[in-house]
Amino acid sequence: MVAWILKKILGSKNQRELKRLMPTVRRINEFDEQFKGLSDEDLRAKTAAWKAELAEIPELEAQWRKLDEILPEAFAVVKNAARRLKDRQNSFTVCDQPMTWDMVHFEVQLLGGIVLHRGRIAEMATGEGKTLVATLPLYLNALTGCGAHLVTVNDYLARRDAEWMGQLYDFVGLTVGCIQHDQEPDVRREQYAMDITYGTNSEFGFDYLRDNGMATTREQQVQRGYHYAIVDEVDSILIDEARTPLIISGPATISTHQYDKWKPLIEQLVRKQNMLCNRIASEAIETFEKADADPANKAEFMAEGGLLMFRVKLGQPRNKQLLRMMEDPEKRRAIDKAELSFFQDTRKEELFALKEELFFTIDEKSNEADLSEQGRVFLNPDDPNAFVLPDLINEFTEIDLDPALSPEEKDKRKAERQQHCDAQAERIHNISQLLRAYCLFEKDVQYVIEENKVVIVDEFTGRKMPGRRWSDGLHQAVEAKEGVQIDRETQTLATITIQNYFRLYQRLAGMTGTAETEAAEFHDIYKLDVNMIPTNRPVARTDHNDRIYKTRREKYNSVINEIRDCHNKQQPVLVGTVSVEASELLSRMLKREKIPHNVLNAKFHMQEAEIVQRAGQPGTVTISTNMAGRGTDIKLGSGVPERGGLMVIGTERHEARRIDRQLRGRCARQGDPGSSRFYVSFEDDLMRNFGAADRMTRIMERFGLEEGQELEHRWLNKSVETAQKRVEQRNYLIRKRTLDFDDVMNMQREVVYTYRNETIDSEEPRKLIYEVIDEAVPAKVKEYLDVDEPNYAGVIHWVNTTFPLGLTKEKAQFETRTVEENTQFLIGKIKDAYERKSSHEEPTAVKSLERYIILNAIDRLWQEHLYAMDALREGVYLRGYAQKDPLIEYKTEAYDMFVDLMANIKNEVLNNLFRSTSNLQAFENFLATLPQFLLREHAPTAPTANAPARGRQLQPVGAMAAVGGDGDGEGEVTIDLPVRRSMPKVGRNEPCPCGSGKKYKNCCGRVA
Ligand SMILES: Nc1ncnc2c1ncn2[C@@H]1O[C@H](COP(=O)(O)OP(=O)(O)OP(=O)(O)O)[C@@H](O)[C@H]1O
Ligand SMILES: [Mg+2]
Repeated sequence: MVAWILKKILGSKNQRELKRLMPTVRRINEFDEQFKGLSDEDLRAKTAAWKAELAEIPELEAQWRKLDEILPEAFAVVKNAARRLKDRQNSFTVCDQPMTWDMVHFEVQLLGGIVLHRGRIAEMATGEGKTLVATLPLYLNALTGCGAHLVTVNDYLARRDAEWMGQLYDFVGLTVGCIQHDQEPDVRREQYAMDITYGTNSEFGFDYLRDNGMATTREQQVQRGYHYAIVDEVDSILIDEARTPLIISGPATISTHQYDKWKPLIEQLVRKQNMLCNRIASEAIETFEKADADPANKAEFMAEGGLLMFRVKLGQPRNKQLLRMMEDPEKRRAIDKAELSFFQDTRKEELFALKEELFFTIDEKSNEADLSEQGRVFLNPDDPNAFVLPDLINEFTEIDLDPALSPEEKDKRKAERQQHCDAQAERIHNISQLLRAYCLFEKDVQYVIEENKVVIVDEFTGRKMPGRRWSDGLHQAVEAKEGVQIDRETQTLATITIQNYFRLYQRLAGMTGTAETEAAEFHDIYKLDVNMIPTNRPVARTDHNDRIYKTRREKYNSVINEIRDCHNKQQPVLVGTVSVEASELLSRMLKREKIPHNVLNAKFHMQEAEIVQRAGQPGTVTISTNMAGRGTDIKLGSGVPERGGLMVIGTERHEARRIDRQLRGRCARQGDPGSSRFYVSFEDDLMRNFGAADRMTRIMERFGLEEGQELEHRWLNKSVETAQKRVEQRNYLIRKRTLDFDDVMNMQREVVYTYRNETIDSEEPRKLIYEVIDEAVPAKVKEYLDVDEPNYAGVIHWVNTTFPLGLTKEKAQFETRTVEENTQFLIGKIKDAYERKSSHEEPTAVKSLERYIILNAIDRLWQEHLYAMDALREGVYLRGYAQKDPLIEYKTEAYDMFVDLMANIKNEVLNNLFRSTSNLQAFENFLATLPQFLLREHAPTAPTANAPARGRQLQPVGAMAAVGGDGDGEGEVTIDLPVRRSMPKVGRNEPCPCGSGKKYKNCCGRVA
């Protein structure tokens, strides 16, 4: 009741909102009427005029106001242009397929356009023409010249839409670009420079990471700001994809993995476990047989058999015999009952004992693997404890309480224990990843092997995701399993969650056919509200009830029957599968039946456009993983509407309801006829793991299902939906968690990236250098002097090893001044010396050098920091066992680490200040100016700055230049600096290279 009322209010709120937009729609149409009389040129001229006008408005708010003001007229320009293209039957090619323009914006599409301009989500049913809707707000927002982005789910759609809508943009005088996976930076930059840019979320996200985390000059960056973006298929991108963050990784500096070492043993272990499970399963079958033979004791035997089978489930959830047992409702119930009984708290220990009978246990739902004592003994008979994490807290306490140990001894022992614990943790981690790789990851389902590489297949779209890797060593474990080259352990170089990338935009909008189920999440995380836009014409699709079978085999057989029926009456069919494996199985079955068909899956995505083009022709059968499930527009061939339009068959229910609705939405577009049906079996993963197993089993029993028979009722659709809702809920929590963790990172990333960009853009990088000196020097001085017993020697040592000041106790006279005065004294000296050093270099080169010194420090330490953060994140999970909230732990420690990071960056800048040069010659000249007593022979050391090979012209030199502080050079100072030996290159009577105008011997060359 409450829900119903709520819906009614919501519904009417939506209606009220839309109603308020109607006057604007009318105005658009009035302008459109007016514009009919204009010439093409006059229409186009409006674009340029607005652009010029908006360029004069720098202030953002004012710009938005202006856009709101011109919206009706601007939309009308686009609509009018669309009509002109249609009237002229403008022909072109899109993804190499011929096409003719046949669209003029409908009223509901204008409505959708307004919603999008306002930064909301427009929910418009599948096939309503969202591609065209987006042209309106994109045009309007691109007039600002700041770039408008359209983000979609795959390269095919990005290209299709850019080429297709490009006709319209071209007509009104805007440029359009499209980002594709294989483009080089130069090409990308051109695409981003266009007024409107289409691309996928991961390309946009990765470009952001490369621009902000890796590029070292403005010229290397490809993007130009985050102004306005429309996210097409917004639920897929902001919800499904948001579960895994985008990560750019590189080889780790240290690699600790031992997958190869453990692989043979794990293989044996898995084999042993499978044998064990098979044995238990056979025992269970015998027990069940006894139950049938002995009705008096039936209940007991059933319970016993159920228990045995549950053990199999713990150890090998995909055991064939187990799956077969599950088909039988009675046995299934016995197994479920055994499982349920262990959920009680009182039976925890029994469950533990049960698990101990196996070598390891696998939890399919949570994707986890856990070694048992037996397993540990098998892996290392001598020391099963090698796979148990030591109780560090206890050990530390014991060490602390030991009176025989000195404090140093205590620290040493603790460090040893810590190290030991880390090694154990690494080993346990490697093994559990290998077990997961063997027991939970299947080739051609979760991944495919291509060119000797493991390529992840996206579970939502069935598309390959080249370049993405499972984190945490799982990828390497799968590589070890498949015997392909194990990539070196990778380390995160840059990372961002999709959520945080999109938060960068000044205004974000979205559109999809299926936003409704996730409206709350859109609101909470992105502050995006959903407006539902009515369809242009009533939807004419028939959604049949699900057909439910006991086994996959029966299910597929019926699918084939239905395909044959459609094929016989020449009705086109689109068959959706959730995995590559399933699509290949169906394809084989169809071949046997001699039914011609096309297969579209991650392995053959090259011909995508062509296959889609044909999918609506009479009699065509197309099998596709979910990759054709979104955005794909299938046009009906002639005679097809009379035969019922396109038939969509889903061969499995997906985890999320939206995905199924999207598949259905491939048919009955724009008021066309069409129908859809889903096939489900009890063996499907969704049903096994999240299905209302008990209830289903009872229903199955009541109906007494025979081989090949199916269940079909609208109530059953509900059960399936309940299962889906459960998974959706769980996934929401995972996403929320990822985001909670990334929020911590996000703040840090913002600080670091802002600093980086400031450095790149700075015309006066010297200022930044001086800021570092102003901040880092006081901190250091304080450390030494602002204490009870000031350590003057310490400061002098630090100063002399960091800067070439040649300071002595006598010269410094620290004792005579306050801490503050000493600080200012040192800052002054350092800056002086720095000015002198730079005076020998070419001014622009010096600027690059300064930027480089800062960037280099940021990048090196930030990457180290990311590595440490990864480790921290893994580590805090272990603490979850110690009754602590991992997130809070993570936040606190991450903060401390970040404070350290910023301090370290500054210190590193100071350290490199006098150890780098833009040009060796200048450096030598400069060295030559130094008082000789400051120079000592030293072989040049390896570059301190580990410059990545990005073709920089700057050379860090190993030695530090020493600048004689006062040039008066009295006395016996020796400084402990590795200095590159250099002979004066300048004649004593020549002008000084510092540019002072004096003779060298009277200036920098004044040797004591
Ligand atoms: N105003 C229009 N007049 C005529 N045809 C139109 C119009 N708008 C869209 N169409 C047609 O409707 C079909 C579907 O368009 P489109 O693929 O943009 O839909 P969509 O809303 O993006 O669907 P999906 O949710 O599946 O991505 C296309 O064939 C397109 O040509
Ligand atoms: Mg679309």
